[in-house]
Order: sequence, then C-alpha cells, then structure tokens
Amino acid sequence: MADLEQLKHAPASTGILDVIAKRWSPRAFTSQQVSKEDLRTIFTAAEWAASSFNEQPWRFILGIRDDEQHGEAYNKIFDALVESNQQWAKSAPVLIATIAKKTFSHNGTPNRVAQHDVGAASATMCLQAIALGIHTHGMAGFDPEALRASFGIPSNFEPMACWAMGYLGNPDTLPEHLKEQELAPRTRKNLDEFVFTDWETGAEF
Ligand SMILES: Cc1cc2nc3c(=O)[nH]c(=O)nc-3n(C[C@H](O)[C@H](O)[C@H](O)COP(=O)(O)O)c2cc1C
Repeated sequence: MADLEQLKHAPASTGILDVIAKRWSPRAFTSQQVSKEDLRTIFTAAEWAASSFNEQPWRFILGIRDDEQHGEAYNKIFDALVESNQQWAKSAPVLIATIAKKTFSHNGTPNRVAQHDVGAASATMCLQAIALGIHTHGMAGFDPEALRASFGIPSNFEPMACWAMGYLGNPDTLPEHLKEQELAPRTRKNLDEFVFTDWETGAEF
C-alpha cells in the first residue's frame, strides 16, 4: 500500500504542501471506522473555510455505517448514489452529502457563489482528513432529487456532491476495471492551460 501511496502522491518536486500532495481519491477503503473525534476535527476544518459575506452556505449530512445516530443517513446517501459509485463506495465507512444554501441569510437574495463556497469548505475537509491519514473521494454521480426527498431538503438548498471517506484499502478487493484505475498514475493539466495572462494565453513563471 505504501507503493500505491507513492505512485499517487504529487511529486515532491512540485514544492506544494504535504497534505495537498498526499490527497487523492481511492475507491478501496478498509472497514476501519473513522473516529468521532477525527470527524469533529475534519468538519471543524471545513467550518473555517472562507465564504462570501461569511454566509457559510455549506451543509454536510454525515452518514456513518452501522452507527446508531448516523447509520440511517449512511443508508440514505448510499441509496442516492448511482450504481457505478455504489460498486466501490460500499467499502467506505463514512458517506457525506454536501448541500449549498442558495440564498443569503441577511437579505434573502441569491448567493451566486454558494456552490463555490461549498467547494472551498469541501476541499478544506479533504485536506484536514488526509492530514489525519483519512482519504476522501468526491461523487457527482448521485440523484440529487432522491437525496432531497429522503432528507427533506428545502427548495432554497441544493444538493452538491457526495463524499466517501475512510482509510485506504487494498486495490485487490476491487473489480478489475476499478482496480486498473486505482493503480493508474494521476494526471494534471499544465499550469499554462489554466493560469492566464489574457484569455487562453498561458502565464509564464
Ligand atoms: C465534485 C466531485 C465529483 C466527483 N464525482 C465522481 C464520481 O461520481 N465518481 C467517481 O468515481 N469519482 C468522482 N470524482 C473523483 C474525480 O474523478 C477525481 O477527483 C479526479 O479524477 C482527480 O483525481 P484525484 O482526486 O485522485 O486527484 C469526483 C470528484 C469531485 C471533486
């Protein structure tokens, strides 16, 4: 597993923070439960993300497998996932759904950047998690309306993403096509493809 981590980490030569280099999205998780203490730290990290007007438009629904308080949420989130995500996400002991509040609380007007800010809080969650040795894997593949119905999410809130969370598992537990992806190196665009000095003119560093 150490070899897999090595393959998946961003190269040390990038000079980026250790937690950023170490975050990647596995599909195989062990059955080891994430402690409530760690979950509290992980969500506290999300709490301290920046947001427009400090609205903190993020909401997280926490599902923990076989947990007295959070077990039902786990099952509801799992049921909303598309089958191709259920295939691997079933090994994750924690499932999370993120939801954006689409309006500002101080005046009720639309918050154009609510989704942006939910993303920022989610990224912060992922980085705190990996700092604790806990992996995360985002999922857009779920039925937002099924999630809305099963949790009674009001219309001024929008389901954004689901997340699988837990400790890195053995790729051999995955079906062959998923195992292939699990063992593949990660790829990224070059900086000049997304850092511009004019529209589609790459910046030079
Ligand atoms: C919001 C979001 C939605 C995603 N949706 C899915 C998904 O439905 N299924 C899946 O297997 N991976 C999903 N991913 C994982 C991405 O494919 C993954 O983050 C990307 O390939 C980059 O790999 P890395 O996270 O290991 O750097 C999603 C990631 C994010 C952030």
